[in-house]
Amino acid sequence: MLDLPYKPVLLDGVVDLADNPTPDAEWFDAYRQRGGYRTLEKVLRTMTPAEVVECVKASGLRGRGGAGFPTGVKWGFLPRDSRLPVYLVCNGDESEPGTCKDRPILEQRPHLLLEGIAISAYAIGSHTAFLYIRGEYFHAIEVMNRAIEEARGGGVLGLHVLGTDYALDVVVHSGAGAYICGEESAMLNSIEGRVGWPRLRPPFPAQKGLYGCPTIINNVETLAKVVPILERGPEWFRSLGTEKSGGFRIYSVSGHVKRPGNYEAPMRITLRQLIYDLAGGIRGDRPLKAVIPGGSSVPILTADHLDTQMSFEGVEEAGSLLGSAATIVFDDTVCMVWAARNMAQFYRHESCGQCTPCRQGTAWLYKILDRIENGRGRPEDLDLLEDIPRKIEGRCVCALGDAACAAVKSGLQHFRREFEQHIELGRCPFEKPYTQFV
Ligand SMILES: Cc1cc2nc3c(=O)[nH]c(=O)nc-3n(C[C@H](O)[C@H](O)[C@H](O)COP(=O)(O)O)c2cc1C
Repeated sequence: MLDLPYKPVLLDGVVDLADNPTPDAEWFDAYRQRGGYRTLEKVLRTMTPAEVVECVKASGLRGRGGAGFPTGVKWGFLPRDSRLPVYLVCNGDESEPGTCKDRPILEQRPHLLLEGIAISAYAIGSHTAFLYIRGEYFHAIEVMNRAIEEARGGGVLGLHVLGTDYALDVVVHSGAGAYICGEESAMLNSIEGRVGWPRLRPPFPAQKGLYGCPTIINNVETLAKVVPILERGPEWFRSLGTEKSGGFRIYSVSGHVKRPGNYEAPMRITLRQLIYDLAGGIRGDRPLKAVIPGGSSVPILTADHLDTQMSFEGVEEAGSLLGSAATIVFDDTVCMVWAARNMAQFYRHESCGQCTPCRQGTAWLYKILDRIENGRGRPEDLDLLEDIPRKIEGRCVCALGDAACAAVKSGLQHFRREFEQHIELGRCPFEKPYTQFV
């Protein structure tokens, strides 16, 4: 096992993906008893909002939702002279295949998240925060609503937060099963009761977001991290990571490992340590074939990349992206055409249809991969698979289309021979005991 230089903060050690029933949440009294909301109290009584923003900037915290934008810098984009209300939106839509790290925070650490939301809202001058939770997360929605009631009753939310002049309320808004609503501007439309279509930018949400007002959108894990940063200081947090990727984060490791789970680890960790030390190695000690290091939207890596550092810059150097840090592991039994086809199926289904290149392109990617996988591929299909991404990438309102191309492009780059074999043989050369799960 890997020795961690600190006790896990967001999760109590490993959270097994197969945990059933879900462990009970840490409710208000228990959270208070172990010092919960003390950091919020310290912040409200001794720090100005600008000092909180500086502290988060100094910690090197970058967004955990996907793009990895520096959190403190994003907060600094809010207009200073606006008279409009400022909104904080916490993104708990978590629908990216492979990603399941926000769920244990929502279900087990509701008050840690509320404390993070309250500190962040104070920092940006917001008095209303929305918590958008994936519609299928029924339990998380119930837990967070109960926690908000407790926090209101306990004086943590309301007109006088912890007896100060600062007022804050938090409102839960549940999604309805659309992946696109995790995209921040589609989320704003969804909260407003409109169709969940991404918005054209500029204007960016910090200028004109929810109900036309300045808005900051941050991921659940990002906001939960604000508590330990303010509690223990930005240097402590920064020192756990690398120069460009401050701190620790939760890696959701799934697929063919012996111990799939959510692992909280410093961002200096390598892919090898994550798969072999934390997740126990490959099931049946089989060879590792491929890894998706940041959720289904990022390029596939191979066993040659095991010494990649799981920081934003480390994964980028290896030719992929850290994204949501969901690490999906494939052993040597997996057909990469089948895997790319499955991902293409997801994006085809989830494309909102607003932009033609994404709507049409994701459908064609799926159609072509499906026929190759089912033995009806044509030699020219590989050229088509290379051409379609060129017609999608950078031509849409949001990044879903680009995300749809990642597995296809990198699959072809690393496993081209496998695609060719399917076409030459007129069938898939792999046995698939796993298709039953699809
Ligand atoms: C198609 C699509 C889906 C997304 N889904 C999520 C999601 O489920 N959760 C999330 O936090 N961010 C998601 N994002 C990223 C958000 O748009 C946004 O960048 C993020 O919530 C910002 O928070 P952060 O800076 O704390 O990472 C998605 C982006 C795209 C393009």
